[in-house]
Amino acid sequence: MKPTLHEALQIDIKRINREIENIVKYDKDVPRTSVLSHSVLQLIRSGGKRLRPLLVIVGSRFGTAKTGSRFGTAKTGRRQLQLAAAAEFIHAASLIHDDIIDRSDLRRGAPSLHTQTGVAEAVHIGNYMSARVVELLSDFTSDHDRFVHDLSSLATAQLCIGEYEQLQHAFDYDLTLKQYLEKTRCKTAQLMATCLRVGALSTDARPEVADALYRFGESLGMAFQIEDDILDFTATAEMIGKPAGSDLRRGQVTLPVLYALSDPVLAPRIRAIHANSSEEEIEYALQGICVGDALARSQQMRMDYLQQAMQAIELLRGHPAYGQLEVLHQYFGGKTA
Ligand code: IPE
Ligand code: IPE
Ligand code: MG
Ligand code: MG
Repeated sequence: MKPTLHEALQIDIKRINREIENIVKYDKDVPRTSVLSHSVLQLIRSGGKRLRPLLVIVGSRFGTAKTGSRFGTAKTGRRQLQLAAAAEFIHAASLIHDDIIDRSDLRRGAPSLHTQTGVAEAVHIGNYMSARVVELLSDFTSDHDRFVHDLSSLATAQLCIGEYEQLQHAFDYDLTLKQYLEKTRCKTAQLMATCLRVGALSTDARPEVADALYRFGESLGMAFQIEDDILDFTATAEMIGKPAGSDLRRGQVTLPVLYALSDPVLAPRIRAIHANSSEEEIEYALQGICVGDALARSQQMRMDYLQQAMQAIELLRGHPAYGQLEVLHQYFGGKTA
């Protein structure tokens, strides 16, 4: 049987999951029996691939700190686990808010949080999770640890800006490719890039190594979001555990939509879609997008980012942990449905 990603990377996922749960379990201000605690734990236990924590740990294997491990680099210590768990908290909070904004009622194959708690409650649960990360990482106080702020503040702020851009550009068929790419970088790629970088700096990686890892993660993140955008057209809800075919319906001008808009036959069909379009109108545009070359062109862009990712880590070839990056690259480059 094919190993899972964490097995291939030789990462103890149980330790990471425990650390993520501990963030809420050991919050002295949150009673264990509260709805808040229950909701956060339920969300965490609902699954998820834990990509961002895994990126933190892989990054940490590029450090020079002499704690000794089979990679000839740093060992996964408590601090790395805390950073990994914090990264998942930031991500999970963003999913809560994203599902509210996207009016998406399914996440990780289960009803999304706001459908269970109510929207106002879910907003606060997401806010709590983001704020708790700042509280948690404020333990990293020395000047030497300043890089953790990239995770708790910079990456989170960028993510919010990206999501805001997305909301602002709903049904904006004049969105440019440049704007799409910038929004994608903010909402998805920067957090992934920061996870690798912060992991690396936490074990004293050299700055040029941390920067190369950042660029690798950024390109992987771009490829990841483009794949997600393609899957919205090609996959079923069962396959991805969230509603499929909804980006167009919600006015999201993703990469396949952008490319389809450059087709003079398809463009008017797409431009006709608005918040109250009928199912027939949407189906008509969806079909046009699927039979044209928009998905193939999007795939090509995704492949270009995957190639850029490999170029970014050229200087790390020969590092004992380089193989870990190859594993990640293979995973992110996996086939799209
Ligand atoms: C979903 O991210 C949001 C996007 C950036 C497309 P993931 O696919 O990593 O979500 P989980 O954590 O595995 O559910
Ligand atoms: C990614 O965008 C969401 C975040 C980065 C928070 P999507 O809206 O495409 O994510 P899904 O498809 O709902 O998982
Ligand atoms: Mg969404
Ligand atoms: Mg999506």
